Amino acid sequence: MASRIPAITLHNGGKMPSVGLGTFQGHDDEMRQVLNAALECGYRHIDTATVYKNEAEIGDVLHEWLSSGRVAREELFVVTKLPMTGNRSGDVGRCLQDSLDKLRLSYVDLYLIHSPVGMKANSKGVLDLETNHEEIYKAMEEQVDAGKAKAIGLSNFNSKQIERILKVCRIKPANLQVEVHVYHQQKALRELCRAFDIPVCAYCPLGAPHAAEGSDEYPILLQHPVVTSMAKRLGRTPAQVLLRFLIQNNLVVIPKSTNQKRVKENFNVFDFELSSEDVASLETLDRKGDGRVIDFKSLFEGIENHPEWPFGIPY
Ligand code: A2P
Repeated sequence: MASRIPAITLHNGGKMPSVGLGTFQGHDDEMRQVLNAALECGYRHIDTATVYKNEAEIGDVLHEWLSSGRVAREELFVVTKLPMTGNRSGDVGRCLQDSLDKLRLSYVDLYLIHSPVGMKANSKGVLDLETNHEEIYKAMEEQVDAGKAKAIGLSNFNSKQIERILKVCRIKPANLQVEVHVYHQQKALRELCRAFDIPVCAYCPLGAPHAAEGSDEYPILLQHPVVTSMAKRLGRTPAQVLLRFLIQNNLVVIPKSTNQKRVKENFNVFDFELSSEDVASLETLDRKGDGRVIDFKSLFEGIENHPEWPFGIPY
Protein backbone atom coordinates (compact mmCIF):
# COMPACT_ATOMS: atom_id res chain seq x y z
CA MET A 1 0.00 0.00 0.00
CA ALA A 2 1.59 3.26 -1.11
CA SER A 3 1.35 6.21 1.22
CA ARG A 4 -0.73 8.97 -0.28
CA ILE A 5 -0.08 11.68 2.26
CA PRO A 6 1.41 15.00 1.20
CA ALA A 7 5.17 15.30 1.03
CA ILE A 8 7.70 18.11 0.92
CA THR A 9 9.99 18.01 -2.11
CA LEU A 10 13.67 18.37 -1.20
CA HIS A 11 16.21 20.07 -3.44
CA ASN A 12 17.45 16.67 -4.64
CA GLY A 13 13.92 15.78 -5.78
CA GLY A 14 13.36 13.46 -2.81
CA LYS A 15 9.86 13.44 -1.33
CA MET A 16 9.76 13.69 2.44
CA PRO A 17 6.29 12.67 3.71
CA SER A 18 4.84 15.41 5.94
CA VAL A 19 4.24 12.98 8.81
CA GLY A 20 6.94 10.57 9.90
CA LEU A 21 7.26 8.18 12.79
CA GLY A 22 9.53 9.51 15.55
CA THR A 23 11.27 6.61 17.25
CA PHE A 24 13.27 8.10 20.11
CA GLN A 25 12.98 5.72 23.10
CA GLY A 26 11.40 2.92 21.05
CA HIS A 27 13.11 -0.42 21.64
CA ASP A 28 12.89 -4.18 21.17
CA ASP A 29 9.53 -5.79 20.45
CA GLU A 30 7.63 -2.64 21.26
CA MET A 31 9.56 -0.80 18.53
CA ARG A 32 8.93 -3.63 16.06
CA GLN A 33 5.20 -3.66 16.81
CA VAL A 34 4.82 0.09 16.57
CA LEU A 35 6.74 0.24 13.30
CA ASN A 36 4.65 -2.57 11.84
CA ALA A 37 1.46 -0.77 12.91
CA ALA A 38 2.76 2.50 11.46
CA LEU A 39 3.64 0.91 8.12
CA GLU A 40 0.22 -0.81 8.05
CA CYS A 41 -1.58 2.48 8.42
CA GLY A 42 0.51 4.18 5.74
CA TYR A 43 3.57 5.77 7.37
CA ARG A 44 6.51 5.72 4.98
CA HIS A 45 8.79 8.20 6.71
CA ILE A 46 10.76 6.76 9.63
CA ASP A 47 13.03 8.92 11.76
CA THR A 48 15.77 7.30 13.83
CA ALA A 49 19.32 8.06 15.01
CA THR A 50 22.38 6.16 16.13
CA VAL A 51 21.85 7.37 19.69
CA TYR A 52 18.30 5.99 19.81
CA LYS A 53 19.85 2.51 19.68
CA ASN A 54 16.92 1.08 17.74
CA GLU A 55 18.25 0.99 14.18
CA ALA A 56 18.59 -2.80 14.30
CA GLU A 57 14.94 -3.34 15.30
CA ILE A 58 13.84 -0.88 12.62
CA GLY A 59 16.07 -2.65 10.11
CA ASP A 60 14.48 -6.02 10.90
CA VAL A 61 10.98 -4.70 10.26
CA LEU A 62 11.94 -2.81 7.12
CA HIS A 63 13.69 -5.91 5.81
CA GLU A 64 10.52 -7.97 6.31
CA TRP A 65 8.41 -5.40 4.48
CA LEU A 66 10.89 -4.95 1.67
CA SER A 67 11.71 -8.61 1.12
CA SER A 68 8.04 -9.59 1.09
CA GLY A 69 7.31 -6.87 -1.47
CA ARG A 70 4.80 -5.13 0.80
CA VAL A 71 6.69 -1.91 0.26
CA ALA A 72 9.24 -0.77 -2.31
CA ARG A 73 12.43 0.94 -1.19
CA GLU A 74 11.54 4.03 -3.25
CA GLU A 75 8.35 4.44 -1.23
CA LEU A 76 10.24 4.69 2.05
CA PHE A 77 11.89 7.78 3.46
CA VAL A 78 14.37 6.72 6.13
CA VAL A 79 16.26 9.27 8.20
CA THR A 80 19.11 8.63 10.61
CA LYS A 81 21.69 10.84 12.29
CA LEU A 82 25.41 11.10 12.92
CA PRO A 83 25.95 10.82 16.68
CA MET A 84 27.72 13.53 18.67
CA THR A 85 30.47 11.00 19.34
CA GLY A 86 31.06 10.81 15.57
CA ASN A 87 31.30 14.54 14.94
CA ARG A 88 34.67 14.35 13.20
CA SER A 89 35.27 14.16 9.44
CA GLY A 90 37.15 10.87 9.78
CA ASP A 91 34.26 9.21 11.62
CA VAL A 92 31.34 10.12 9.37
CA GLY A 93 31.70 7.31 6.81
CA ARG A 94 32.15 4.64 9.48
CA CYS A 95 29.16 5.90 11.48
CA LEU A 96 26.85 5.98 8.47
CA GLN A 97 27.97 2.51 7.36
CA ASP A 98 27.28 1.21 10.85
CA SER A 99 23.76 2.69 10.69
CA LEU A 100 23.18 1.22 7.23
CA ASP A 101 24.30 -2.22 8.40
CA LYS A 102 21.85 -2.08 11.29
CA LEU A 103 19.04 -0.70 9.15
CA ARG A 104 19.81 -3.36 6.51
CA LEU A 105 19.71 -0.71 3.79
CA SER A 106 22.21 0.38 1.16
CA TYR A 107 21.30 4.05 1.55
CA VAL A 108 19.28 6.40 3.75
CA ASP A 109 17.08 9.08 2.30
CA LEU A 110 18.44 11.70 4.68
CA TYR A 111 21.48 11.73 6.95
CA LEU A 112 21.61 14.51 9.52
CA ILE A 113 24.37 15.82 11.75
CA HIS A 114 22.47 15.23 15.00
CA SER A 115 24.03 18.06 16.96
CA PRO A 116 26.53 20.86 16.38
CA VAL A 117 28.30 19.77 19.57
CA GLY A 118 30.98 17.09 19.31
CA MET A 119 31.89 14.53 21.94
CA LYS A 120 34.93 12.31 22.21
CA ALA A 121 34.46 9.00 20.42
CA ASN A 122 32.59 6.37 22.48
CA SER A 123 32.32 8.74 25.40
CA LYS A 124 29.23 9.49 27.40
CA GLY A 125 29.46 13.24 27.48
CA VAL A 126 33.19 14.11 27.29
CA LEU A 127 33.25 17.20 25.07
CA ASP A 128 35.44 17.26 21.97
CA LEU A 129 36.34 20.92 21.81
CA GLU A 130 37.88 20.58 18.33
CA THR A 131 34.55 20.16 16.50
CA ASN A 132 34.89 21.52 12.96
CA HIS A 133 31.54 21.79 11.15
CA GLU A 134 33.02 22.64 7.79
CA GLU A 135 35.16 19.48 7.81
CA ILE A 136 32.32 17.27 9.07
CA TYR A 137 29.98 18.61 6.43
CA LYS A 138 32.52 17.87 3.69
CA ALA A 139 32.55 14.26 4.87
CA MET A 140 28.74 14.28 4.84
CA GLU A 141 28.82 15.41 1.19
CA GLU A 142 31.12 12.49 0.39
CA GLN A 143 28.38 10.15 1.64
CA VAL A 144 26.05 11.56 -1.01
CA ASP A 145 28.79 11.08 -3.62
CA ALA A 146 29.15 7.47 -2.47
CA GLY A 147 25.38 6.87 -2.80
CA LYS A 148 24.98 6.09 0.89
CA ALA A 149 22.78 9.11 1.62
CA LYS A 150 20.38 10.58 -0.90
CA ALA A 151 20.37 13.86 1.01
CA ILE A 152 22.15 15.38 3.99
CA GLY A 153 21.12 17.96 6.55
CA LEU A 154 21.43 19.40 10.02
CA SER A 155 19.74 19.04 13.38
CA ASN A 156 19.84 21.36 16.39
CA PHE A 157 22.00 23.90 14.51
CA ASN A 158 21.36 27.60 15.13
CA SER A 159 21.07 30.34 12.50
CA LYS A 160 24.76 31.28 12.58
CA GLN A 161 25.89 27.66 12.27
CA ILE A 162 23.53 27.09 9.33
CA GLU A 163 24.85 30.21 7.60
CA ARG A 164 28.43 29.00 8.04
CA ILE A 165 27.57 25.70 6.37
CA LEU A 166 25.80 27.51 3.54
CA LYS A 167 28.96 29.49 2.86
CA VAL A 168 31.11 26.42 2.28
CA CYS A 169 28.79 23.67 1.12
CA ARG A 170 28.87 22.00 -2.27
CA ILE A 171 25.61 20.14 -1.53
CA LYS A 172 23.09 22.32 0.28
CA PRO A 173 21.54 20.97 3.48
CA ALA A 174 18.21 19.44 2.43
CA ASN A 175 16.59 19.71 5.83
CA LEU A 176 16.87 21.16 9.31
CA GLN A 177 15.42 19.15 12.19
CA VAL A 178 14.76 21.11 15.37
CA GLU A 179 12.32 21.24 18.26
CA VAL A 180 9.15 23.00 17.05
CA HIS A 181 5.67 23.02 18.58
CA VAL A 182 2.99 25.52 19.48
CA TYR A 183 4.87 26.67 22.59
CA HIS A 184 8.18 26.95 20.68
CA GLN A 185 7.28 28.01 17.16
CA GLN A 186 10.79 29.00 16.01
CA LYS A 187 9.47 31.67 13.67
CA ALA A 188 12.83 33.42 13.12
CA LEU A 189 14.74 30.20 12.42
CA ARG A 190 11.97 28.99 10.09
CA GLU A 191 12.07 32.32 8.26
CA LEU A 192 15.83 31.94 7.73
CA CYS A 193 15.31 28.41 6.41
CA ARG A 194 12.51 29.57 4.14
CA ALA A 195 14.84 32.22 2.68
CA PHE A 196 17.41 29.52 1.86
CA ASP A 197 14.77 27.00 0.77
CA ILE A 198 15.62 24.50 3.52
CA PRO A 199 12.51 22.62 4.71
CA VAL A 200 12.18 22.23 8.48
CA CYS A 201 11.21 19.06 10.30
CA ALA A 202 9.67 19.51 13.76
CA TYR A 203 10.73 17.12 16.49
CA CYS A 204 8.62 16.98 19.64
CA PRO A 205 5.69 18.42 17.68
CA LEU A 206 3.30 17.61 20.55
CA GLY A 207 5.42 19.62 22.98
CA ALA A 208 7.26 16.61 24.48
CA PRO A 209 4.58 15.86 27.10
CA HIS A 210 6.87 13.29 28.77
CA ALA A 211 9.49 15.98 29.47
CA ALA A 212 7.38 19.12 29.86
CA GLU A 213 6.61 20.54 33.27
CA GLY A 214 3.11 21.95 33.17
CA SER A 215 2.11 24.96 35.28
CA ASP A 216 -1.18 26.78 35.82
CA GLU A 217 -0.11 29.42 33.34
CA TYR A 218 1.40 27.01 30.83
CA PRO A 219 -0.18 23.59 31.13
CA ILE A 220 1.15 20.63 29.17
CA LEU A 221 0.49 21.67 25.58
CA LEU A 222 -1.86 18.75 24.86
CA GLN A 223 -3.97 19.97 27.78
CA HIS A 224 -3.98 23.68 27.01
CA PRO A 225 -7.60 24.90 27.03
CA VAL A 226 -7.20 26.69 23.68
CA VAL A 227 -6.02 23.40 22.15
CA THR A 228 -8.56 21.14 23.86
CA SER A 229 -11.54 23.39 23.11
CA MET A 230 -10.46 23.74 19.48
CA ALA A 231 -10.11 19.97 19.22
CA LYS A 232 -13.56 19.45 20.73
CA ARG A 233 -15.20 21.93 18.37
CA LEU A 234 -13.54 20.27 15.35
CA GLY A 235 -14.23 16.72 16.49
CA ARG A 236 -10.49 16.00 16.57
CA THR A 237 -7.96 15.18 19.26
CA PRO A 238 -5.59 17.78 20.75
CA ALA A 239 -2.64 15.96 19.15
CA GLN A 240 -4.26 16.19 15.72
CA VAL A 241 -4.82 19.93 16.16
CA LEU A 242 -1.18 20.48 17.19
CA LEU A 243 0.15 18.47 14.26
CA ARG A 244 -2.20 20.09 11.79
CA PHE A 245 -1.04 23.54 12.89
CA LEU A 246 2.57 22.64 12.04
CA ILE A 247 1.70 20.96 8.75
CA GLN A 248 -0.26 24.04 7.65
CA ASN A 249 2.93 25.98 8.39
CA ASN A 250 4.78 23.76 5.86
CA LEU A 251 6.61 21.79 8.52
CA VAL A 252 7.27 18.07 8.44
CA VAL A 253 6.32 16.46 11.79
CA ILE A 254 7.69 13.32 13.44
CA PRO A 255 5.50 12.60 16.49
CA LYS A 256 6.64 9.58 18.46
CA SER A 257 4.37 7.12 20.14
CA THR A 258 4.69 3.61 21.42
CA ASN A 259 0.93 3.22 21.36
CA GLN A 260 -0.56 1.83 18.15
CA LYS A 261 -3.86 3.75 18.50
CA ARG A 262 -2.02 7.05 18.91
CA VAL A 263 0.34 6.23 16.04
CA LYS A 264 -2.74 5.95 13.83
CA GLU A 265 -4.32 9.08 15.30
CA ASN A 266 -1.19 11.10 14.56
CA PHE A 267 -1.27 10.04 10.91
CA ASN A 268 -4.90 10.99 10.34
CA VAL A 269 -4.40 14.71 9.96
CA PHE A 270 -5.04 15.24 6.28
CA ASP A 271 -8.83 15.25 6.15
CA PHE A 272 -9.41 18.51 7.98
CA GLU A 273 -8.03 22.01 8.03
CA LEU A 274 -7.62 24.70 10.66
CA SER A 275 -9.20 28.03 9.77
CA SER A 276 -6.99 31.12 9.68
CA GLU A 277 -8.66 32.19 12.96
CA ASP A 278 -7.68 28.90 14.62
CA VAL A 279 -4.13 29.18 13.28
CA ALA A 280 -3.91 32.75 14.59
CA SER A 281 -5.15 31.73 18.01
CA LEU A 282 -2.55 28.94 18.25
CA GLU A 283 0.11 31.42 17.16
CA THR A 284 -0.59 33.50 20.26
CA LEU A 285 0.54 30.56 22.46
CA ASP A 286 4.15 30.85 21.25
CA ARG A 287 6.47 31.21 24.26
CA LYS A 288 9.49 31.68 21.99
CA GLY A 289 12.75 30.64 23.71
CA ASP A 290 10.95 29.90 26.98
CA GLY A 291 8.89 27.25 25.22
CA ARG A 292 11.85 24.94 24.54
CA VAL A 293 11.29 21.69 26.43
CA ILE A 294 14.20 19.46 25.56
CA ASP A 295 16.93 20.37 27.99
CA PHE A 296 20.26 19.17 26.61
CA LYS A 297 22.01 20.69 29.63
CA SER A 298 20.39 18.16 31.91
CA LEU A 299 21.10 15.33 29.46
CA PHE A 300 24.80 16.20 29.07
CA GLU A 301 26.35 18.03 31.98
CA GLY A 302 28.48 20.97 30.88
CA ILE A 303 27.38 20.79 27.22
CA GLU A 304 26.88 24.57 27.19
CA ASN A 305 30.67 24.94 27.55
CA HIS A 306 31.24 23.55 24.07
CA PRO A 307 32.25 26.26 21.57
CA GLU A 308 29.46 25.08 19.25
CA TRP A 309 26.70 25.02 21.90
CA PRO A 310 23.78 26.21 19.74
CA PHE A 311 21.29 27.62 22.21
CA GLY A 312 23.24 30.57 23.62
CA ILE A 313 21.80 32.97 21.02
CA PRO A 314 18.11 33.76 20.40
CA TYR A 315 17.85 31.44 17.37
P1 A2P B 1 2.89 7.39 24.02
O1 A2P B 1 4.12 6.71 23.50
O2 A2P B 1 2.37 6.75 25.26
O3 A2P B 1 1.84 7.57 22.95
P2 A2P B 1 6.63 14.39 21.20
O4 A2P B 1 6.80 13.72 19.86
O5 A2P B 1 6.13 15.79 21.11
O6 A2P B 1 7.90 14.29 22.05
O7 A2P B 1 5.54 13.57 21.99
C1 A2P B 1 5.72 12.21 22.26
C2 A2P B 1 4.98 11.85 23.51
O8 A2P B 1 3.60 12.14 23.32
C3 A2P B 1 5.09 10.41 23.88
O9 A2P B 1 5.31 10.38 25.27
C4 A2P B 1 3.75 9.83 23.52
O10 A2P B 1 3.36 8.87 24.48
C5 A2P B 1 2.81 11.00 23.54
N1 A2P B 1 1.85 10.95 22.45
C6 A2P B 1 2.08 10.60 21.16
N2 A2P B 1 0.99 10.71 20.41
C7 A2P B 1 0.01 11.15 21.24
C8 A2P B 1 -1.36 11.47 21.06
N3 A2P B 1 -1.93 11.33 19.88
N4 A2P B 1 -2.06 11.88 22.15
C9 A2P B 1 -1.47 12.02 23.35
N5 A2P B 1 -0.17 11.73 23.59
C10 A2P B 1 0.56 11.31 22.55
